[in-house]
Amino acid sequence: MAFRDTKSKIIIKTPEQIQGIRESSILAAKTLKVVEAFIKPGVNTDYLNSICAQFIKDNGANSATLGYHGFTKETCISVNDVICHGIPGKLELRDGDIVNIDVTTILKGYFGDTSKMFLVGDVSDHAKKLVKVTKECLSIGIEQCKPGTHLNNIGYYIDRHAKSHGYSTVYEFCGHGVGLRFHEEPEVCHVAEKGTGPILQPGMIFTIEPMINAGKARAKIDKKDGWTARTIDGRLSAQFEHTICITKSEPFILTDIDNEFPQPKEIF
Ligand code: MF3
Ligand code: CO
Ligand code: CO
Repeated sequence: MAFRDTKSKIIIKTPEQIQGIRESSILAAKTLKVVEAFIKPGVNTDYLNSICAQFIKDNGANSATLGYHGFTKETCISVNDVICHGIPGKLELRDGDIVNIDVTTILKGYFGDTSKMFLVGDVSDHAKKLVKVTKECLSIGIEQCKPGTHLNNIGYYIDRHAKSHGYSTVYEFCGHGVGLRFHEEPEVCHVAEKGTGPILQPGMIFTIEPMINAGKARAKIDKKDGWTARTIDGRLSAQFEHTICITKSEPFILTDIDNEFPQPKEIF
């Protein structure tokens, strides 16, 4: 939002805080690795949530979503046309589904937030392509994460990539500053105007979490549960999320435990 551009309250994290947020981020990412083995046709999303919840607890951490504004589960699990904030429950996964699991951990007071897509059994080529392009959108956003760059360049290039494949970018949900609290400034829009927004500086930590739709961009919230966000046209949606720390050179992807991104030597 324009009024945030000049006088933002984006926290610059200290080296000690960055280390704490890194450890929480690693745990969130490990949780996604642990649950992966249980994802198959016939399991319900509540079961997958319980696997994540147990792993988080066993590692001395808490889930940030449980009790967050009344959210009742330790993860968000969003299947097919669900854009985000799916509540784990009785829904059973079926062959061909695409599913996002979003984990936010609180470890020693620090927050780490990550999500990724999983393919259930035999998935159609068009669904696979949506998932692939959405992952590319996150990487393209990450490429913009250099000091001196305008924050909104991230969303500009994400949306451009989505559009180039005939997809649309969800604009009703955004990435966010994270680390000392769940949702801090800034708001990281995935559709945005190039050359606007705060200037990125070393020590800023935020998520990038593009939600890309096969059809229309709009979301509708489930009237009964007040959370589940679905596409208005019933078409598929995909999402990937990382927690990112700006450094003096390449960004430090705190939730990347697969070394998909190079790890910078110094932050400041
Ligand atoms: N983890 C989500 C995010 O990436 C937020 C979930 S909030 C909840 O920002 F209340 F739905 F859990
Ligand atoms: Co997030
Ligand atoms: Co998240």
